[in-house]
Amino acid sequence: MLDKFSKWRARGKDSNEAIAELETTNIPNHVAIIMDGNGRWAKKRGLPRIAGHREGIKAINKIVRQANQLDVKVLTLYAFSTENWKRPKAEVDYLLSLPEIFFKSELPILKQENVNVRLMGSMAQLPEHTLKAVRNAVEETKDNDGLILNFALNYGSRSEMLEAIKQISEDVAAGKLSSDEVTEEVMSSYLMTASISDPDLLIRTSGEIRLSNFMLWQAAYSELWFTDVLWPDFNESHFAEAIAVYQKRARRYGGV
Ligand code: FPP
Repeated sequence: MLDKFSKWRARGKDSNEAIAELETTNIPNHVAIIMDGNGRWAKKRGLPRIAGHREGIKAINKIVRQANQLDVKVLTLYAFSTENWKRPKAEVDYLLSLPEIFFKSELPILKQENVNVRLMGSMAQLPEHTLKAVRNAVEETKDNDGLILNFALNYGSRSEMLEAIKQISEDVAAGKLSSDEVTEEVMSSYLMTASISDPDLLIRTSGEIRLSNFMLWQAAYSELWFTDVLWPDFNESHFAEAIAVYQKRARRYGGV
């Protein structure tokens, strides 16, 4: 299976053929992606790092279209982590201007395609212009019941869990909840992903093999798929390949 995909990629195979190979009855409900490698993509071309981030938007467009076509229900994209503030200010500023750039051209299309935009992360620290763009996208698509496009923006899984634990402790102290009632389901309901299912498939591009503080609770039983492809080069065939590999996996959730 993998060899076939590699050959297709090498000769630029049309992604429709890759898609046609997929079992339509076993499409992951929720796909989460760590979009990595923008900087390296730019460096390889002698371009500034921000050119890689800009190019990354094109890959987002391709994958949103394809996720919709395949009937994936939720697509979560790690767009800015709580650790990304450590980057040079100019790069941070650029990263936080990407939602405006993206939604300016894409929002009409997303609306037309019945996509429901959502956010997870700490919104309080984000600049006003970023907030305005993302909140507008959420508002304008809130009645859509198609693909949920969930942007993780200023998101960090540890801080998400810490916030949930603090909230649970407060609710226990206030007598709204007893400590015996704090189950895994209750914990999940205090997370930013309360209204969506856990990712079935988690993809990371660029050859890095780690989760980088992304959905640590939610990914407990996700199938993980890593590829050397840099995010701006990630296309429909790669996405189909990831799903094909997912479909070959036996998900046992700790059972036999
Ligand atoms: C990691 O690559 C990528 C990011 C930190 C940003 C990803 C964001 C986008 C692709 C666009 C987001 C768009 C919207 C609409 C919010 P890197 O810079 O760490 O790459 P490197 O590891 O090669 O340096």
